Amino acid sequence: MPDFQAILENLYQDAMNTSDKGTVASYIPELAHVDKNNFGIHLRTSAGKDYGVGDYKKPFSIQSISKVLALSKAMELIGEDIWKRVDVEPSGHPFNQLALLEIENGIPRNPLINSGAIVIADILVSNLENPKEDFLNYIRDLNGDDTINFNIDVAHSEKVTGFKNYATANLLKSFENLNNPVDDVLDFYFHQCSIEMNCEQLTKAFFFLSNKGNCLSNKIRLTKTQAKRINAIILTCGFYDEAGEFAFEVGLPGKSGVGGGIVALLPDNFVVTTWSPGLNIKGNSLLGMKALEKFTTETKLSIF
Ligand code: DON
Repeated sequence: MPDFQAILENLYQDAMNTSDKGTVASYIPELAHVDKNNFGIHLRTSAGKDYGVGDYKKPFSIQSISKVLALSKAMELIGEDIWKRVDVEPSGHPFNQLALLEIENGIPRNPLINSGAIVIADILVSNLENPKEDFLNYIRDLNGDDTINFNIDVAHSEKVTGFKNYATANLLKSFENLNNPVDDVLDFYFHQCSIEMNCEQLTKAFFFLSNKGNCLSNKIRLTKTQAKRINAIILTCGFYDEAGEFAFEVGLPGKSGVGGGIVALLPDNFVVTTWSPGLNIKGNSLLGMKALEKFTTETKLSIF
C-alpha cells in the first residue's frame, strides 16, 4: 500500500511552491473573488480510509462537477431513454461551444458539455416533483450531509451573465430538444452548478461511481452497468477538449469544474478530489491536474 498521507502532503508542498497557479474564472463574476492560493486534496479508499491535506474542508463552487451527479440522477429516473436526446462522443471542443450543436441538429455530443448538461437539466425538471430541492436532497443523501447547499449569489451571478447558456438553451429549443421553458431549465441548471461542497464531501458523493453504483450508506443508486457507463463518459468527456490530455497524463476518469475542483476515481480502489481555483487555458484546474498526474505516477494506480 502506498503511503497516501505522505504522498498527498508532497503534492500540497509542490502546489505551494509553484508560482504559476493559473487564472481564476471570472466570466461568472461571483467566482472571481476566490483566492487562488487555496489548495486542497482528499482521498478515500474503497477500504474506507480517508486522507486529506490543505484546504480540503473549505467549500467551493462545484460547477460542472455537478453535471455527473445530474446525469446519474437522470439515469436513475429514465434510464436508456437519455440517449435519444444526447450522444456519448467526446466533442473535442470547449465546454460552451455552440457550433457542433447546430451542425448536429440539436443533439449534444455528450451530457458533460453545457448543451448536453442543459438537456439533462430539462430531463430532471420534467421528472422531479420539486426539481431544485429534490436534486439538492439527492446530493445530500449521497453524501450523508444535510449542510450542503446552493450558493444563491453564484446562481444569480451566472443567470445575469450567462448569455451563451441562454443561446444554447434556445438553440436546443429550436430543435425541439428542450421540453420545458428555457428560463425554468436554466434556473435549475444555474442552481445545480452553484452547489458548494468541499473536497471531502465530493469524494464521498462520488463514492458510488467507484463502488459499482452503491453509495456510502450502501444504497443502490445505479446498476453496475450504469456506473460503468457514467465512468466511461467521465473518462472520454469530463475534460472537454482536454479529455485526451487528462487520460494521457493522469489515466483516470475525472471531472473538472470552473470553480477549480476535480474529482477522479479508480473503480474498486479510490476516489480523489483536488481543489485549486486557478484554471489553465482550457478552463480546467492547472495545479489540480498536475497534482493528479503526480499522484497516479507515484502510486502507480490508474486504469491503464
Ligand atoms: O455553464 C457554465 O458555464 C458553468 N456553470 C459551468 C462550466 C464549467 O464548470 C466548465 N468546466 N470546467
